[in-house]
Amino acid sequence: MPKNKAVNVGLIGAGRIGSFHGETVARRLVDAELVAIADPAPGAAAGLAGKLAVESSYTDVADLLAHPNLDAVIIATPARFHTNILVQAAEAGKAIFCEKPMALTLEDADRAIAAARSAGVPLQVGFNRRWDQAFSEGRAAIDGGRIGTPQLLRSLTRDPGPFGADPAKIPQWTIFYETLIHDFDTLLWLNPNAKPVEVTAVADALVRPDFADKGFHDTAVVTIRFDNGSIAVAEANFCAMYGYDIRGEVFGSGGMVTMGDVRRSSMRLFDKDGVSSETWRRDTDHFVHGYTAQLASFVTAVRRGEITEGPTGIDARNALSIALACIESVSRKAAIAL
Ligand SMILES: NC(=O)c1ccc[n+]([C@@H]2O[C@H](COP(=O)([O-])OP(=O)(O)OC[C@H]3O[C@@H](n4cnc5c(N)ncnc54)[C@H](O)[C@@H]3O)[C@@H](O)[C@H]2O)c1
Repeated sequence: MPKNKAVNVGLIGAGRIGSFHGETVARRLVDAELVAIADPAPGAAAGLAGKLAVESSYTDVADLLAHPNLDAVIIATPARFHTNILVQAAEAGKAIFCEKPMALTLEDADRAIAAARSAGVPLQVGFNRRWDQAFSEGRAAIDGGRIGTPQLLRSLTRDPGPFGADPAKIPQWTIFYETLIHDFDTLLWLNPNAKPVEVTAVADALVRPDFADKGFHDTAVVTIRFDNGSIAVAEANFCAMYGYDIRGEVFGSGGMVTMGDVRRSSMRLFDKDGVSSETWRRDTDHFVHGYTAQLASFVTAVRRGEITEGPTGIDARNALSIALACIESVSRKAAIAL
């Protein structure tokens, strides 16, 4: 595509994260334009289009895909719709940014990868932690040999409390498919070229024990063994009362990198009660730079016609295979060989 032409982006799904991504394209990226929004919920696409001064809004994805001169789409619908919409967008020849998880089964992951490949369109998946400054510097330190050979890795996701969602409305296994999937991608990415060989997971409902017997999980711990001998631990909880807490750590033969800080800034308040800090409360505040950088990278990929940095469909499949092993591990109370 011509170098000076803005990449025309269509947003599919105008919910919480879709609205934020739409705002990023419309207001935070200079070489992309948000030209259309689709969402079947009455008024959702039109409402966001009005707010962001986008001319076209649709309730049907097919109509958005037929929008003239559309180069790329962002898929930010609930997870269960991702694969079918992705395949539809690939068949329409659009470059694709798909929120995680790209698929809920390996068959669907393969279908998505094959559709993008045969259409020859770039496919990037929303593992935004890779663009967070601390995490990207951590990966650079590992690549530079600064910590030697990775031996122990950790990644954790603690969503901010109080937990206000209705557990009955959260699909079963969300903690693996949608929360810890970030940690699985992070651990794979921070352990370059290592392959996971065994997964053990335990999960429970500690935040909402009243839903424990309904298959709901809000707390989980996962161990992953890799073929380079390293061992990783991932953990998640849906209710950290002190804020949105995302951290990573890689300990190696020559040192360690740690990444992530729940504190918003270096400001400390010293008063009669002691010393205190403000903390992150929302993902869209904590990761505003990372979310923006991942879409800037996607726009660059659309211009080039291929993903040269950033997680692809294959990365999404690799993280999904760990999530699926976790589900099997919890169900069978056993370690699962990959
Ligand atoms: N990377 C991250 O940090 C991050 C953060 C939040 C959410 N997510 C992911 O983004 C996805 C969306 O999450 P959310 O919290 O924004 O959900 P949400 O429920 O707030 O929004 C989903 C929107 O999609 C719309 N929708 C439903 N079916 C559709 C269809 N067939 N076509 C078009 N739109 C459709 C709904 O009407 C709704 O407006 C999930 O997969 C979630 O895991 C990722």
